Amino acid sequence: MKRTPWSADPSRVGEIPTMISREEQSYLHWLGRTQWRDQGHVVEIGPWLGGSTRCLAEGMLAGKPAARHRLHVFDNFLWREFMEKYAPLGLAPGASFEPNFRRHLAGHEERIVVHRCSLPDEKIPGDAEAEGIRGSEVPDLALFDWNSHEPIEILFVDGAKSWRGMRWLLRRTADALAPGKSLVVAQDLKYWGAYWVPAMLACFLDSLELVHQTERGSTVTFRLVRALSVAQVEALVDDATALPARETLAGLERVAKLLEQAGDKVGAMHVRLSGVQLLLHLGRHKGAAALYEHLQRRWPVRGAK
Ligand SMILES: C[S@@+](CC[C@H](N)C(=O)[O-])C[C@H]1O[C@@H](n2cnc3c(N)ncnc32)[C@H](O)[C@@H]1O
Repeated sequence: MKRTPWSADPSRVGEIPTMISREEQSYLHWLGRTQWRDQGHVVEIGPWLGGSTRCLAEGMLAGKPAARHRLHVFDNFLWREFMEKYAPLGLAPGASFEPNFRRHLAGHEERIVVHRCSLPDEKIPGDAEAEGIRGSEVPDLALFDWNSHEPIEILFVDGAKSWRGMRWLLRRTADALAPGKSLVVAQDLKYWGAYWVPAMLACFLDSLELVHQTERGSTVTFRLVRALSVAQVEALVDDATALPARETLAGLERVAKLLEQAGDKVGAMHVRLSGVQLLLHLGRHKGAAALYEHLQRRWPVRGAK
């Protein structure tokens, strides 16, 4: 089978600003069109202005025009300054962009259920970039929740921007994910600035099978092969700054090896590189610099993203 069977699928993002790559847009369309069997809902965490949502929704419509299950999107819809770089809308930081999202998805109201809520994020002392993405306030919004009696067939995650948020999300969705059926689509898996995604999935690798990798983008998808243990999620520390360094780096290495075995050497290095940010969050500055230099010397492609 071709490594990227989604490459001929259209994007469908149209005029909607998006932070995901062209290949990821086609991938989401393909995912909705060919992999979703309407045996559960599609849950999207972090739709932003709806670019990824439109790709998923159009794919779902093309594959199952009379579907029973829905596309549920969850976002705090809080505008952050860094977003202006991707879409100069001139909104004030903290303003809601939910109306923009709804406008962009006009015509899909029947298929999409919009939830305004937040995932909890921990504060990382000294990381201004993390604060820019997560915000400095505690939003006056309900925390994410999901009725575990409603099956989730596809969990697309592009809005868990902290270890705490990722843990909360897994805890709340674990019982709705079905072994052999559900897909966990991790948009940030190969992004060097989001170690918590590969680090957390590394804790559950005996329940997950790698099934799709985008080549131009950071999205990697796993199929659940064994139930996720809620007790195991609950046993994880709640604050990234309390993570055990050696064990967590070893987890990143396990995910990197998986990608390498699947032929993605650069993706594997991005996962290893995320260890630099992990060490910085743990206050291990010397270790972070040493890891950075070590990876720089071993980097497989000069000039790669
Ligand atoms: C990288 S953007 C998603 C990009 C989008 N998928 C696209 O196609 O362009 C991340 C999204 O996650 C949301 N988000 C970030 N942290 C969140 C939190 N703690 N709770 C709820 N939503 C959050 C942001 O508001 C933003 O819409």
